[in-house]
Amino acid sequence: MSYATVDLLTGHLEGDGIADSSKLLSQLANVFADEACRAAMDQDTIVYEVQSQQLVKEGEPGGLFFGTSNVMPGKVGQEYFMTKGHYHAKRECAEYYWCIQGKGALILMDEAGNTTMEPMFPGSLHYIPGYVAHRLANTGDEVLRVGACWPSDAGHDYGSIVETSFSARLMDVDGVPTLVPAEKK
Ligand code: F6R
Ligand code: ZN
Repeated sequence: MSYATVDLLTGHLEGDGIADSSKLLSQLANVFADEACRAAMDQDTIVYEVQSQQLVKEGEPGGLFFGTSNVMPGKVGQEYFMTKGHYHAKRECAEYYWCIQGKGALILMDEAGNTTMEPMFPGSLHYIPGYVAHRLANTGDEVLRVGACWPSDAGHDYGSIVETSFSARLMDVDGVPTLVPAEKK
């Protein structure tokens, strides 16, 4: 038996098998469109944090992982703070996201390179099918807190995103979050 709790208001996890990680601006080189702007900002700024409960080994088939991602409010130039984004290494693996607190967007890209977004608000539920890359962006001025549940053998493929990037980026265009075609890599 394992014992853990999830704070229903914030998604904060505590207890057995919980791992914490955070991503600073210094760890996100070339993730945002305006790399010069990112490099000029305070490198110790936290862009997002992830907590997850992993009770089986990563890669083991049949299990599930449960997590909470907190994306901070902020922008690099006009681009909202966001996660790196990934495909699952085991491409067919799907995932659920749900928004707990804050305002943002789930950015999705299929393997043909079509990028779309789904608005996120407390209570919004998002099914991410297999073969679809996903990333979170915070478009509000408070922390965006998002729950997630995914298969323990899904894995993460960040490399394909580094190579080709998402085909569109979520930018603040006159105060409106707008998907803008990305410059080709
Ligand atoms: C797991 C998942 C989330 C993300 C988290 C951080 O499959 O989608 O838990 O891992 O939101 O984003 P990345 O992994 O893109 O840095
Ligand atoms: Zn995922």
